[in-house]
Amino acid sequence: MGISSYALSKYELHHLEQQVVPESFEILYNGRLYDVTDFVKHHPGGNVIKFYTEFREDATRAIEDFHKGSLDQVHGILKNLKSQPANSNECK
Ligand code: HEM
Repeated sequence: MGISSYALSKYELHHLEQQVVPESFEILYNGRLYDVTDFVKHHPGGNVIKFYTEFREDATRAIEDFHKGSLDQVHGILKNLKSQPANSNECK
């Protein structure tokens, strides 16, 4: 009955497997995309960081505002993360 009687074809199963990719998170700061996949678990400010990874929102303002007294510490963490220049169409 219903959905339990629905069998996926081999093709459909294969297609689904292709789409299972490990979760990864990047954050846009000062024109660079930083890989924060591991850091999100340890961020002292918690899950709020994920808002910026999910929507590719530019996090520069938020990072500067939330860490006024600790920007050196933040930069120290960022320089040890994998990063790449963001494409110009991702900075909007
Ligand atoms: C990769 C980017 C980020 C890094 C490396 C980072 C790093 C840190 C560090 C080292 C602290 C502890 C020192 C401090 O209180 O300033 C902290 C705390 C905090 N962060 Fe971030 N942060 C990042 C992104 C963000 C974003 C995007 C937000 C908010 C939109 C945020 C919000 C906060 C808040 C609210 C705290 C204070 C937590 C508390 O004291 O209870 N952070 N972050």
